[in-house]
Amino acid sequence: MIVNTPKNAVKMDSQGLDYTLRPKSWQEYVGQAKIKKTLEVMIAAARQRKEPLDHLLFYGNPGLGKTTLSNIIAKEMNVNILTTSGPNLRHGGDMASILTNLNPGDILFIDEIHRMNKVCEEIIYPVMEDYTLHLVVGKGPTAQTMQIALPPFTLIGATTKMAMLSPPLRSRFGAILQLNPYTHSEMQEIITKSAKALNVCIDQQAIDSIAKCSRSTPRIANHILKRVRDFAQVHNANNIDYKITTTALECLEIDNMGLATEDRKILNTLIKNFDGGPIGIKTLSAATKEEEESILDIYEPYLIQIGFLERTPKGRKATKMAYQYLGLEYREPKGPTLL
Ligand SMILES: Nc1ncnc2c1ncn2[C@@H]1O[C@H](COP(=O)(O)OP(=O)(O)O)[C@@H](O)[C@H]1O
Ligand SMILES: [Mg+2]
Repeated sequence: MIVNTPKNAVKMDSQGLDYTLRPKSWQEYVGQAKIKKTLEVMIAAARQRKEPLDHLLFYGNPGLGKTTLSNIIAKEMNVNILTTSGPNLRHGGDMASILTNLNPGDILFIDEIHRMNKVCEEIIYPVMEDYTLHLVVGKGPTAQTMQIALPPFTLIGATTKMAMLSPPLRSRFGAILQLNPYTHSEMQEIITKSAKALNVCIDQQAIDSIAKCSRSTPRIANHILKRVRDFAQVHNANNIDYKITTTALECLEIDNMGLATEDRKILNTLIKNFDGGPIGIKTLSAATKEEEESILDIYEPYLIQIGFLERTPKGRKATKMAYQYLGLEYREPKGPTLL
């Protein structure tokens, strides 16, 4: 599936509010100062030369702002952005039909680019280099290669798994930019802006506690803010304060470290059933009944980031901090044993 976003398109709800809370300009986009600076220079230079921007690759955990950045770039360059994602690119034909639909200067945004099929990846190499699409027509000995010249465009790829991208694909991007988790004050700023966009009053203590439990991720902060807003609304509270925020977070079972039921289950299983590990991902997945993908993409990165989990060559291991968090006594891991 491909979505062609018209310039300046904004999704509105019934009250005219932008329910995606997605920043639409550099001013609204908080943090990531180094990336912003690099992009501002690249955009200004490309505009001066009247050329499309070089191909870009963004990587970082889900919800850190990769899609948002790509849309801001399109707006700054005043071009259309066509959006698709890796899993939709299964056959050569999928890739060819998207590429032949591009207009000069357009941005093609491929989300989850690491999940693109190998055939599509090979089609895109020469396209990224000299905008030539090589198509094989027919089969067997009569097969012929057709060359189609495409208009210059910019490919923006986004991925959460840099290691899964092949080196030839990586090397064809003009810039590879990593999005970092946000600081506490950046999270506070994002929540303040989102509350304003949602037309709700929120006090500083409430902002602070949502910021603390949002795993340094804007998408999570916005999600929690919207749920807290629901609580305030049904409790007839005009303001979101610390009390209503705490009640909402307790109901959502999110603690002040940002850990939810699933995170605690992973830590508890690792410590109580496996002596803190190390254990392999498959064992952890079977014991917790959580999908391997979810552990790898959602739970584990944050547990590692806050120092509760360690990835060792032998598998996942709970740290001393994880024991302390769960109020359990820490035992030094046993030395190597002979099997
Ligand atoms: N730098 C930022 N400043 C303000 N809000 C942001 C920022 N980055 C992300 N967001 C918010 O988080 C949401 C998720 O961001 P998104 O770009 O979809 O993340 P990703 O594509 O990396 O998964 C956005 O809709 C927006 O509301
Ligand atoms: Mg995205």
